[in-house]
Amino acid sequence: MKKVSKDLSKFVSSAILSRKAYVPGFQPPSLKGLIKLNTNENPFPPSPTVSETVLNEITHLNLYPDPHSRDLRNLIANKHNLSGNQVIVGNGSDDLLNLCVRTFADSARPLGMLEPSYSLYPILSSLQGSRLEKVSFKDDQFLLPVDEVIASKVNLFFLTNPHAPSGRSFDQNEILRIANQINAILVIDEAYADFATYNSIPLLKQAKNIVITRTLSKSYSLAGARVGYALAHPEVIDLLDGVREVYNLDKMAQVAAHAALTDNIYFEACRQKVLAERDRANLFFSKLGWRTIESQANFIFTEPIDSKGNSSEEVAFALFEFLQNKNIHVRHFSNHRLTDSKIRISIGTSEHMDILYESINEWKR
Ligand SMILES: Cc1ncc(COP(=O)(O)O)c(C=O)c1O
Repeated sequence: MKKVSKDLSKFVSSAILSRKAYVPGFQPPSLKGLIKLNTNENPFPPSPTVSETVLNEITHLNLYPDPHSRDLRNLIANKHNLSGNQVIVGNGSDDLLNLCVRTFADSARPLGMLEPSYSLYPILSSLQGSRLEKVSFKDDQFLLPVDEVIASKVNLFFLTNPHAPSGRSFDQNEILRIANQINAILVIDEAYADFATYNSIPLLKQAKNIVITRTLSKSYSLAGARVGYALAHPEVIDLLDGVREVYNLDKMAQVAAHAALTDNIYFEACRQKVLAERDRANLFFSKLGWRTIESQANFIFTEPIDSKGNSSEEVAFALFEFLQNKNIHVRHFSNHRLTDSKIRISIGTSEHMDILYESINEWKR
């Protein structure tokens, strides 16, 4: 609940008054001496072509950007063998998730999500004044509860795949079964799909109710530029388009995204380095005997065991704090029984991961 003085609160929308603000992962004011493995950014800088194009664009900042981001939409459409009218771009994929809620949810049209998953969904739901139905995972294997998702009585369902924070990837046949049987718009949040073996783009041909959201924040090293996109049937895109802010992508973000998406060689080189580091992380944690989900994303979700052989919320928090004191930032989600005994570690550079491993070994002694 927001705290607002009485004389002001009578003017404030009830959805805003009852709203809890989103709490983002820690973003330090300076990176000096710090190892940042807490918000799943790419450890590598964006393609060198990005700085070149952004610098050129600066001289045109006196003009408004293309309100439709046409060049960028067409590039994305070509990349995925879709047509331009199946693509919309936005200010990070959060913008697209917000547009989906604006378009398909209200007080009579509830929202659904997997629990636990991305903590922005409940915030968007409360802002829109819609009821939220949470479909819980059975246990910490995070297997997709297909029948429960289908049975949810919602108008829009958020399916995070690969799932966050576990990193688990769901079977495409299961996702298609959900799309075909759920009586709702199915938003597949594919923020981490570039690190996974499979994605749902082929399913777009088979179900009109699918919206896929993607981001350039993770695999394209552009978290700071705030660019995401959604793929869907042209009619759905048209609806989302009608709801967005007119200039939802500034000129620099448009050209930065264009340059990053065009430099396939750089993209693939960085992606392979992240995947190789993820393999090394899996090996490290399996040697320690820590329960670790096989990740299809750019992070690892693992259950720490302390020197006495215990794992628990307290143990996970103790490691989180130990690492924080060494200026290594990872994530601990204390608010759910399926996450509280684990920590989530974004995949960093080899150097940073080596320092992390040394520190974990020290903590275990
Ligand atoms: C599951 C999921 N969806 C969406 C996002 C938002 O990404 P963006 O930076 O494009 O807004 C994140 C960011 O961490 C995420 O974890």
